[in-house]
Amino acid sequence: MSNRSGEKPKLLRVLDGESFDVPPIWLMRQAGRYLPEYRAVRKEVQGFLDLCYTPELACEVTLQPIRRFGLDAAILFSDILVVPHAMGQNVAFEEGRGPVLQPIRDGEGISALEEGNAVEHLAPVIETVGRIREALPDEVALIGFCGAPWTVATYMIAGHGTSDQAPARVFAYQRPDDMNALIDKLVAVSIEYLVAQLKAGAEAVQIFDTWSGVLNAEQFARWVTEPTKRIVSGVRQQVENARIIGFPKGGALQADRFVNETMVNGIGIDWATPRDWVRTNLQSKVTVQGNVDPMLMISGGEALDRDVDDLLQTLGGGRLIVNLGHGITPEAKIENVERLISRVRDRAH
Ligand code: CP3
Repeated sequence: MSNRSGEKPKLLRVLDGESFDVPPIWLMRQAGRYLPEYRAVRKEVQGFLDLCYTPELACEVTLQPIRRFGLDAAILFSDILVVPHAMGQNVAFEEGRGPVLQPIRDGEGISALEEGNAVEHLAPVIETVGRIREALPDEVALIGFCGAPWTVATYMIAGHGTSDQAPARVFAYQRPDDMNALIDKLVAVSIEYLVAQLKAGAEAVQIFDTWSGVLNAEQFARWVTEPTKRIVSGVRQQVENARIIGFPKGGALQADRFVNETMVNGIGIDWATPRDWVRTNLQSKVTVQGNVDPMLMISGGEALDRDVDDLLQTLGGGRLIVNLGHGITPEAKIENVERLISRVRDRAH
């Protein structure tokens, strides 16, 4: 897939099955408000979505953490909620409140969502992918992404972020057929969107399922594993051997089945998942990615060093991509990100 002349980036080699003494590292949400250079660019546009849809600026903020920290991968700067926006739902990001959407209440709301032309509406994002690829150093991989259908659906139904995604869970019990229809539409659009990103220069893609942990086992199989499996096989029908990382957050007990059924190349692990369990049950068959607690990017100190050492000691001998267990927060301190990276690169065995 890579059309670079140079050597294959380390992150891609690990997804392809190799392991290294010094594992590759990137951070979820690595471009964001904890960086002063991000806040400066953010001020140039009015809304957050304007940033996502302006290729020059989205490219610039994608590159900021690469320049500052020398990470092994860049991740496209965008948001998972550009997909419902492209399908015709009203989406806005309000200062201090996060995303606000016109909530979907019933089957009519789902029928009204556009499926066929959604990816065309995302042309600026696809242009951004191409620009980033051209600007990136050869050894840095480019990761594209989308939200997983379940997680995107939770925002589409609630209309805002919640602590437990109750509205979508109630909706799924009351209207399982409507939920099915919504998930199906999101699967179809996600396949085309990820394929477009891969064709434009992304070398791996991650599917963010931030809210998979609120589901019971039966629902997890139906709304998380099954749709992800369809996305993976749909993408690989168009882009052979596409590298795909799943991130079913909070889904550790289902992770084994998730990996077996979806056929992802990598799986993101949240910080609450025991590392020795990951080594025994997952790392032998898939690349694992994670799982430093994002709060350690605020606290720093010896607690951070201990956690990094434990990660490397437990999982550093196999296929590992060092990352956080979830996105970095606006309160993170730059010096702690630097400390994490140098600890990995200096202490890895
Ligand atoms: O990782 C990266 O650097 C790439 C960019 C990226 C963003 N959002 C930028 C962003 C990615 C991969 C996402 C994914 C995303 N967005 C998820 C899944 C992963 C996760 O973190 O759980 C979810 C659930 C969303 C939805 C979303 N977007 C919320 C709930 C919020 C508000 C919370 C907040 O931090 O303000 C956003 C806004 C958002 N997305 C920001 C950024 C940098 C902050 C907005 C701003 O800068 O004004």
